[in-house]
Amino acid sequence: MSSAREMLLGAARKYALAFKEAEKNGDYESAIVNLRRAIEALEEYVRLYPDDVFSRRLRSLIRQYRAKLRSLEREAVQAIAEAEEYDVEVKGDGDDIAPEFVLKEKPNVTFDDIAGLEDAKRAIREAIVYPIQRPDLFPLGWPRGILLFGPPGTGKTTLAAAVANEVDAEFLYVDAAMIMSKWLGEAEKNVRKLFSYARSRAQKGMPVIIFIDEVDALLGVHTNEIGGEVRVRNQFLKEMDGIQDKSSNLHVYVIGATNKPWKLDEPFIRRFQKRIYVPLPDLRARRRLLEILTRNIRLASDVDLDRLAEMLESYSGSDIRDIVQSAYIRTVREFFESGATGNPRPVSMNDFLEVIKTRKPSVDPEALKAYEEWYEKYKAL
Ligand SMILES: Nc1ncnc2c1ncn2[C@@H]1O[C@H](COP(=O)(O)OP(=O)(O)OP(=O)(O)O)[C@@H](O)[C@H]1O
Ligand SMILES: [Mg+2]
Repeated sequence: MSSAREMLLGAARKYALAFKEAEKNGDYESAIVNLRRAIEALEEYVRLYPDDVFSRRLRSLIRQYRAKLRSLEREAVQAIAEAEEYDVEVKGDGDDIAPEFVLKEKPNVTFDDIAGLEDAKRAIREAIVYPIQRPDLFPLGWPRGILLFGPPGTGKTTLAAAVANEVDAEFLYVDAAMIMSKWLGEAEKNVRKLFSYARSRAQKGMPVIIFIDEVDALLGVHTNEIGGEVRVRNQFLKEMDGIQDKSSNLHVYVIGATNKPWKLDEPFIRRFQKRIYVPLPDLRARRRLLEILTRNIRLASDVDLDRLAEMLESYSGSDIRDIVQSAYIRTVREFFESGATGNPRPVSMNDFLEVIKTRKPSVDPEALKAYEEWYEKYKAL
């Protein structure tokens, strides 16, 4: 990460901490000032790096901070106006408020936007969709923990996001790195807050799906305290046991995704009774992916998607997306450079071929073997 990015995130973190401290001490004025500055730093970050991996989550954080700022401002006004007469509004016990690192909006992808991965889709239907629809048909219970693993860029995140639109459930998206992030407080406490919030929502009758992306980070060594990462992991195991308790018929599901399954230890793996391998796309999936990705792009008549699908063996879904994007960009670049008016020309077969020439698949065959070996070892744990 470049230093400008680090500086902005550092500033945001500093102000967010100062805000929390001030809020704790009931110092509205300082809380408001610091929260505003934190928002400004985050906004600047998102403005400068709109496509950065963090930006999507930061946008949601900004929205939450803004809402917090508005309610603080209201509270401050009230506190001044009613200073001696009344107590300021009593706050809930906290469980009704989603932790700040949770993204709640449903992403707008569905199973139809996902190429291939039929086995994974079926496994998810059996493990989540059916038990939610007809819990009475599952007298022996059903798995609450589902692990999606596989090489980078194969659609794990996209798949979990699409689950949100397959069932009527509350969907909580959490990046494990956010849980571990120092500026959001103690990671162990964040895990507790996350599950406590999920349980309290489920108690109101709404199934809850917690999606923890890059779940291996929970076992990472990112914490500042010695022993911190062990406590996070243990807290997580405890929470997983809590939702798997047979006497509990709450619908709380945890989907974890990782491209480094070997970082997980055995007790951790056991909590995910269902382990789903998300592999590189096969020929059919590549063909379908090309179709999905070129839906809104004008193609010249010589473009042969079947042939491209064959050529793209061992490329990941995300590689293929990049290739389609680059092929399209060629026409846009040409359009601007020629100073023409109207629209860019359609994308031709040659655009694709030129781009493919310069790209190698991002997952190497050795790494691929490692996933398969891991799966062999743990599929029937
Ligand atoms: N099977 C697929 N169907 C549709 N799109 C896909 C598929 N695989 C990958 N993609 C595309 O590639 C991009 C990256 O996919 P995604 O982020 O879901 O991968 P991932 O498996 O979570 O990767 P990582 O392990 O690096 O987190 C997505 O934006 C999506 O457009
Ligand atoms: Mg991912």
